[in-house]
Amino acid sequence: MRNSENKKTILVTGSAGFIGFHTAKKLLEDGFNVIGIDSINNYYSQDLKNHRNDILKKYNSYKFYQLDISEEKELEKVFEENNIDKICHLAAQPGVRYSIENPLIYQQSNLKGFINIMECAKKFNIKDFIYASSSSVYGKNEMNEDGFKEEDNVDSPISLYAATKKSNELIAHNYHHLFDINCTGLRFFTAYGPSSRPDMAMYLFTNEIMNNKEVKLFNYGKMLRDFTYVDDIVDGIIKSLEKAYPYEIFNLGNSQTVEVGYLIKLLEENLNKKANIKLEPIQPGDVEKTFANISKAKKMLNYDPKTNIEEGVKKFVEWYKEYYKI
Ligand SMILES: NC(=O)c1ccc[n+]([C@@H]2O[C@H](COP(=O)([O-])OP(=O)(O)OC[C@H]3O[C@@H](n4cnc5c(N)ncnc54)[C@H](O)[C@@H]3O)[C@@H](O)[C@H]2O)c1
Repeated sequence: MRNSENKKTILVTGSAGFIGFHTAKKLLEDGFNVIGIDSINNYYSQDLKNHRNDILKKYNSYKFYQLDISEEKELEKVFEENNIDKICHLAAQPGVRYSIENPLIYQQSNLKGFINIMECAKKFNIKDFIYASSSSVYGKNEMNEDGFKEEDNVDSPISLYAATKKSNELIAHNYHHLFDINCTGLRFFTAYGPSSRPDMAMYLFTNEIMNNKEVKLFNYGKMLRDFTYVDDIVDGIIKSLEKAYPYEIFNLGNSQTVEVGYLIKLLEENLNKKANIKLEPIQPGDVEKTFANISKAKKMLNYDPKTNIEEGVKKFVEWYKEYYKI
C-alpha cells in the first residue's frame, strides 16, 4: 500500500512493541504519517522498546505519545490533536502464562483499553479499525487436518489472555453493528523475526543456547508449531488496512509446521553453538501440532507468507548478534 499523494494518517498502538514497531516502520517507509502510542511498560526490556521507538523517531512523519490506553482522557487528546484516518490497534498485554498470575493488567489493557480505543473511533468518526486477536483463542480445540479455521468454535478459552482476545472480537462486532465501524481482527500465529519478543520461545531458546543453559524439548522435540515471520504478519496487517472489510476475522500464520527440534538445529547452526538439549515427554494438556489454515486470508486479503523458517531464523539470529554485540 503506497501513499504518496493525499498522505493518510494511521494510528498504530503498541508502536514500541514487536509487531507494532515493524508495522509502523513499514507504513512510514510507504509514505504514511504514523501516530504511535505505547506505554513502554516493563513487561519485558524497556531498553528494547525504546530502541525500537528510537528507530521510528528518525522518520519525520512519526509522532509518538507515551501513554496508557486505559487512561481515556489522555487517549482522547491524541485523537483531538491529530486527524487520524485509520486505526491499527496492536497494544495489549500479551502472554498466556503471565495472565494466570496477573489478571488485572489484562482487564486494564485488553478490555478497558480496547473499549477506550473503540470509543475514540466512534467519537472521532474513524471508520477503519484493525486489531490484534490471537491464535490462542483456539485453545484446546480439536484441529482439522487442514489447520485451525476462522469459523471454528472458539467459545472455550483456556487462558484469561485468550478470553480477552475473544472478547475483543465480540466487542468489535458490537461497534461494527451499532456504529458502522469496519473492524478486522487478526489472529496471529507465533510471530518471530528481528527485534522479537524476549518472552517468546525462539528468543528464550536462543538465550539458553548462548548462556549454556539446558534447553528442554517436550515431546522429544517433536512438537509441531506454526512460526510466522514478522514481515509476513505486517503484510497481512497492511492488506487488512487497505481492504477495510466491514467485519472479518483472519488467521495470519505461515501455515507450515516446524518441528521444535528442527528449530533448535537451525538456531545452533546460525549461532554456531551447540544446545544442551534435554528431551522430555509431552506434558499433560500440551498439543502436539497446531497451525493456521490461511485460505481465507489468501483469498480475501491476497495474503501470501513468503519467509520460510530457514531464512527467518537466519535474520532473527543476525539481529540478535548485532543487538547484543556478539
Ligand atoms: N507476537 C505474537 O506472536 C502474537 C501472537 C498473537 C497475538 N499477538 C498480539 O499482537 C499484538 C502485538 O504483540 P507483540 O508481540 O508485538 O507484543 P509486544 O508486547 O511486543 O507489544 C505490545 C506493546 O503494547 C504496549 N502496551 C501494552 N499495554 C499497553 C497499554 N495499556 N497502553 C499502551 N501501550 C500498551 C507494550 O508496552 C508493548 O510495547 C498484541 O495485541 C498481542 O496480544 C501477538
